[in-house]
Parts: sequence; structure tokens; C-alpha cells
Amino acid sequence: MSSLFRRCPVALAIMLLSSVAASPAFALPQKSSKEGKILVEAMELSKRFEAAFNSRNAEAAAACYWNDPRVMLVGPDGTVAMGIDAVKGVYAGLFSAAESLKLETVDGTYIVHGDVVQWIGHVRVTEKMKGAAERTYTLRAVDWRRKIGGTWVYVSDTVTMEETPGAAKSLYKRLGGYDAIAAVIDEFIKRMDGDPKMKRFLAGLSQDSAGKLRQHIVDQVCAAAGGPCIYTGRDMKTAHKGMGISEDDWNTAAGHLVAALDAFSVPEAEKKDLLAIVSSVKADIVEK
Ligand code: HEM
Repeated sequence: MSSLFRRCPVALAIMLLSSVAASPAFALPQKSSKEGKILVEAMELSKRFEAAFNSRNAEAAAACYWNDPRVMLVGPDGTVAMGIDAVKGVYAGLFSAAESLKLETVDGTYIVHGDVVQWIGHVRVTEKMKGAAERTYTLRAVDWRRKIGGTWVYVSDTVTMEETPGAAKSLYKRLGGYDAIAAVIDEFIKRMDGDPKMKRFLAGLSQDSAGKLRQHIVDQVCAAAGGPCIYTGRDMKTAHKGMGISEDDWNTAAGHLVAALDAFSVPEAEKKDLLAIVSSVKADIVEK
């Protein structure tokens, strides 16, 4: 199995997808009869590949590629499979890791360059990998195909992951991910600690306790923003009960958070969304 597939099953699927093109969405352009014949043959390759992919037949999928050390498959993570064995490995890995796979062509176009045909388009993959939930994604693909030894094959196939159109990005992603969130929280805590009025809340915490508090806040914000973190700390009421945090303390803390967000030039929309998350726990924290 190639490293591409081991590292990113999606990459394999993408590669496969890229070569699938024939569908009613494609109308043959008006070409000379020679070009028309080439197009019909080149489109047959798409059908062959789609059938191999959807039946999870790695031999048949690899047979759609040029049997040559120079054949190339580039996955969405940028990993390159060179040579027919590597290409076959990608598909074998993908197919054995999947419980089900479905490849459909969304749109695309064929361009004839002499005796070489290029296909540029989008494919949609619905996959159910073992132990994972089913998911659907769109790949942008560019492949080059040629008739070699009497058979049309892909000589090069490049696939990139496409953001699902219209799909909202999580706040976690919009903020810039984990490192960006951690940097903002560190700045927030630094500002709280540097404020004589707020310092008392953190005074007396051992380095270890302060580190745990920081990590809990990062995890909590990361999880609430839709990131891949799990908050394992106490609920907000329990954690803050008895501290006597007032409305005024809250407003001061909120000001420090805004200043921390501004220090990293977080855009207004993300700032607003993050403050909305934080405000949602206010009633559990403010006691007077
Ligand atoms: C005026 C505002 C706030 C003050 C003075 C404050 C103070 C504190 C202090 C002193 C602790 C440590 C408690 C302990 O270790 O026993 C704590 C815990 C914590 N706070 Fe706050 N906090 C404030 C607002 C917030 C806000 C807005 C959030 C959420 C974004 C938050 C999230 C947490 C979390 C996750 C913990 C850790 C809970 C745990 O360890 O189980 N706090 N807070």
C-alpha cells in the first residue's frame, strides 16, 4: 500500500475520482470527426475507471493508468504516487479501508491536445471508511490521458480537495485553529494577571494549577468553536462558585478578552462569535 493511501484514504479516493468523467453532464463539443472519435474513446476511460472504483477493484483501477514508472498520481494532500505499483497501492489501500465508496462526476470538460486529452472537473465521493462515519466531499481533478498500446490510460492524475460550496467553516477554523486559540487565551490570561483588579483571582495558584486552568480554558473554547478538542474540566458553576465574581469583574474580563483578540487582529465576525460563546456561560460565573 502506498504511503499516500495509508496517510490519507481520501487522497486515494480523490485520485480515483479525478479520472471519472463520463456522465450526462458532459456534452461532446462540436469537433472535427477525428477529435470527436478521440473524445469518445477518452470518455470510455472515465466509465471504466468509475466502474473499477465503485466496485473497489484495485487491479481494474490500476489498469486505467499507464503501466510505466513515469505514471503519476497526486493526492489532495500533495502526496505523489509515481509508477504503476504505487498507483495500484493507493487504490488497494483505499479499497481495503473502505466499507463503501461511491464516485460521481459533478462537472467537467475535456480538452483535446493532439493525441492527448485533458480532463478538468469535479467529482463527488461518498465514502464509509471502517470505523468512521459516512462522509461526502468534492474533489477538483485534472488528468491527462492518452492511447498507449491500443488502450486509453491516465498518464497523470492530480486531485485536490474542494471546500464544499456553501458549507460554513467552523469558528475554530475561522479563528485559525488550535495555535491561534491558545495564543489568544494566553494573552487573555496575561492581561488578567497584569490587572491589579483581577490579579487576586489568579493569585495563589501554583504553576501547575495555573497551567491546568489555562489548558482547560483553551480546550473549552476550542471545543465550543467546533474544534477537535474535548473539555474535561468542571462545569462553570462549580468551578467559579464562591469566588464572588461581580458584573463589574465580568465586564473587565470581557474587556481583556477583546484586547487579546485585537492583539492578534482577529476579525470582527470571529470576535463576535467567540464573545457570544463566552457570554453564554456568564450566568454561571457571575454571582453578584
Ligand atoms: C471575571 C471572569 C472570570 C474569573 C475571575 C475567573 C476565574 C477563574 C479561576 C480563579 C479559576 C480557577 C478555579 C480553580 O482552579 O479552582 C477558573 C476556572 C476556570 N474558568 Fe474562569 N474565570 C472567569 C471567567 C471565565 C470565563 C469567561 C471562562 C470561559 C471562557 C472561564 C473558564 C474557566 C475554566 C474552563 C476553568 C477551569 C475549570 C476546571 O479546572 O475544572 N472562566 N476561573
